[in-house]
Amino acid sequence: MEVVVKEDYQGMSRLAAKIIADVVREKPRAVLGLATGSTPLGTYKELILMHKEEGLDFSQVVTFNLDEYIGLPPEHDQSYHYFMNENFFKHINIPPGNVHIPNGMAEDLVGACEQYERDIKEAGGIDIQLLGIGANGHIAFNEPGSSLGSRTRVKALDEKTIEDNARFFEHMDDVPKFALTMGIGTIMDSRRIVLLANKANKAHAISITVEGPVTALVPATIVQLHPRATIIVDREAAVELERPYRDTPHDLSEAVAYIQRQKGKDS
Ligand code: GLP
Repeated sequence: MEVVVKEDYQGMSRLAAKIIADVVREKPRAVLGLATGSTPLGTYKELILMHKEEGLDFSQVVTFNLDEYIGLPPEHDQSYHYFMNENFFKHINIPPGNVHIPNGMAEDLVGACEQYERDIKEAGGIDIQLLGIGANGHIAFNEPGSSLGSRTRVKALDEKTIEDNARFFEHMDDVPKFALTMGIGTIMDSRRIVLLANKANKAHAISITVEGPVTALVPATIVQLHPRATIIVDREAAVELERPYRDTPHDLSEAVAYIQRQKGKDS
């Protein structure tokens, strides 16, 4: 697992967007796993800029979002369908048919979850999954105590998450109590993971995620077991980390240059 500490939100967002853009440039039919929340907004802004200014092409890209509230129709301004459309999809050239978000209005919720898993498989699996993190260490809507092997399913939201979300709704009664979410096992099947966190309220969750033991009580800790995970945080979210971390991802060319220098010494 690689941990990168950037100076600020913009640095975090730019690096995440660059990593995703590189995947799309290398594989135009890339399958992206996407997240909602305030954290990835800057990343989407950067990707939109790259689309508009550098022609980053999403015409063959396929996306799967992590989660959706149960009971909010796509046009509800707090639904994740609405969020993704407003903040990303309507600004790029992705065909609407390539976009997948769990259907929180499905009559058969269990069937919808199973179909979502099949759709991901049929698309060839997720190439890169973008993640935020809840203050309680949740990823997507896998709340503390979720099975580390879970698949897409219905989850009851934690009291803490409901409280955190209350500010977006007029009445407490309107705040959704359930969601459809990819499971932790589903997320771990992605070929690559990029987890983002900024601001001081994430510092504790990040310290446990990076330096604590792997535990279902802090679902994000599972990324320690992923073979290709990058955690990008800003300074404020990094304050509780004990070890020093770099501000740039490891670059193989550094190692190659080192070999060349060593060889030069021998000759
Ligand atoms: C929600 C989402 C998560 C997200 C979290 C943090 O619970 N289901 O995917 O990571 O919020 O949101 P924010 O980025 O706004 O802090």
